[in-house]
Amino acid sequence: MTITGKELRQKWLDFYKSKGHADIGAVSLIGDGSTGVMFNVAGMQPLMPYLLGKVHPAGKRLTNVQGCVRTVDIDSVGDASHFTFFEMMGNWSLGDYFKKEKTAWTVEILTEVFGLEKDKLCTTVFEGNASAPRDEETAKLVVGLGIKPEHVFYLPKEDNWWELEGTVGTPCGPDNEWFYPIKHLEAPVFPDDYVEIGNDVYMQYKKTESGYEPLANKNVDTGFGFDRMLLFLNGLTDGYKTDLFSAAIAKLEALSGISYDGGGEPQRAMRIIADHTRTALMLIGDRNGILPSNVGAGYILRRIMRRSIRYCRQLGVSPDAMCEVAKIFIHEVYGEAYPLLIEKEGYILDEMKKEAERFDAMLVTGMREFEKCVQGLERKNEFMKKGNSDYVPEMVIGGKAAFRLYDTYGFPLELTEELAAERGLSVDKIGFDAAFKEHQEKSRVLAKGEAKGGLESHSDIAVKYHTATHLLNAALKEVLSPDCNQKGSNITDERMRFDFNFERAMTPEEIKAVEDLVNSKIEEDLPVVYREMPIEQARKEHFVGVFDSKYGDVVKTYSIGEFSKEMCGGPHVAHTGLLGRFRIVKEQSSSAGIRRIKAVLE
Ligand code: ALA
Repeated sequence: MTITGKELRQKWLDFYKSKGHADIGAVSLIGDGSTGVMFNVAGMQPLMPYLLGKVHPAGKRLTNVQGCVRTVDIDSVGDASHFTFFEMMGNWSLGDYFKKEKTAWTVEILTEVFGLEKDKLCTTVFEGNASAPRDEETAKLVVGLGIKPEHVFYLPKEDNWWELEGTVGTPCGPDNEWFYPIKHLEAPVFPDDYVEIGNDVYMQYKKTESGYEPLANKNVDTGFGFDRMLLFLNGLTDGYKTDLFSAAIAKLEALSGISYDGGGEPQRAMRIIADHTRTALMLIGDRNGILPSNVGAGYILRRIMRRSIRYCRQLGVSPDAMCEVAKIFIHEVYGEAYPLLIEKEGYILDEMKKEAERFDAMLVTGMREFEKCVQGLERKNEFMKKGNSDYVPEMVIGGKAAFRLYDTYGFPLELTEELAAERGLSVDKIGFDAAFKEHQEKSRVLAKGEAKGGLESHSDIAVKYHTATHLLNAALKEVLSPDCNQKGSNITDERMRFDFNFERAMTPEEIKAVEDLVNSKIEEDLPVVYREMPIEQARKEHFVGVFDSKYGDVVKTYSIGEFSKEMCGGPHVAHTGLLGRFRIVKEQSSSAGIRRIKAVLE
């Protein structure tokens, strides 16, 4: 039997719709912050309030196929079975049906819809502990449905209890896991010859500080791995051989002239590029899409993209290959299930290209710098060994060197660690953090030493607001009119106030456009560059500011990428990624022909 990704998706949704479930569609991949995780890691995550008792507008029986991003195993990507993005086929009962219906439907879909052999299915249930009883009920039900009694196993909490790690106040419970033999063996033995294909969680508890308390509702939370099931139903063992990946891999083969089936490093590189490109395009093209930056989720995205760029070079293709592969994913694989990707295609490809340009240019020199560190270490070890045969060789790249690779060449720390590991070395992370802090402190002291420029205080946050006024000024010129210009500003630690010339109130759309533009420049993490120059030159280079100085005077200027150029005494942050999120809280009249904006950084 062969089944395409599209067919599998449809079969899952159709089956549960036929059992009265509403298809609620997938939600954003980006976490809302409520659980402390940056990305959606399970299909149940967005449904947490409803599992805890809130009424869901679509009813008590829900289904979807939900994208998830998990980056904990990123170092393992490159083998046949690890991915940073995957989808989970899910269905839920919110205080409606429970074990009897759920076990029956799981057996039905696995055997009758997907054609798995009932005799080969194995299943595990919770053996019980002080928090919750042994799940004999589920065991009896599955045997009643024809699962061989010797294929039902009781296991402890480590195996058969499902909860989101580390979070209190979240729903959880014992689960019933389903397994099938990896290959179609005649006499497979559990667990060695089996893989997990999915699980039904009987989510009737809430995690508290001290343990668990029962929920008012008895819920069901089901998750079956879409990518894995597809692999499985097609009798494959390499996750990159399904139709989700085959066209992307073929593209990489064509671009590199190397065969994927040849294995080795090129195969590993192709897998990494394909996996990371898929995750990057999903995160950029998400409805709450993010961009690569140096903080939070944006940093994880940057790390994924830079790792992919490095492997493009290793495979011998240009990082533009990521765009080629992204186009295939969008048009041939995911566009139908995620129409927003088609709408945002231009934007996604553009952002991929920009990140590739930012990093690829530094990659070669950065790699040379890395080699120098390794050689320095080797020379030192050789030298010391000569003088002392008991000498234990140093196998750690110094924190300062790692910081230099980060700061000057844009190498995420994890990339340096990965490169080091390939050479049997590690990186001094504590030293890296110390160098990072020292650098921040130095920039702060430097910034404080500069002239004032509308600031009432020189706290870090006030400096950030000051840089934000430059971004705002440039954004207003772009969105409203090139004639708009700053007429005054006032900054405290809590907010910024900004006056500018404009004849009418801004529309909500204009306010949003200005906010979005400023935030996109923050996410691009543009460098803020200070230069002194003769006033004539500043004029020629179109710096904005008050040109009341005399001819021949030297002026202080700050430019932010190509976006903003102002004459100004500072201080400013070193790069825009430090600003956080910019939000306009008010736009009002200040005096005739002058508008006033109040804005905050969050
Ligand atoms: N919440 C369960 C899982 O993620 C279904 O596996």
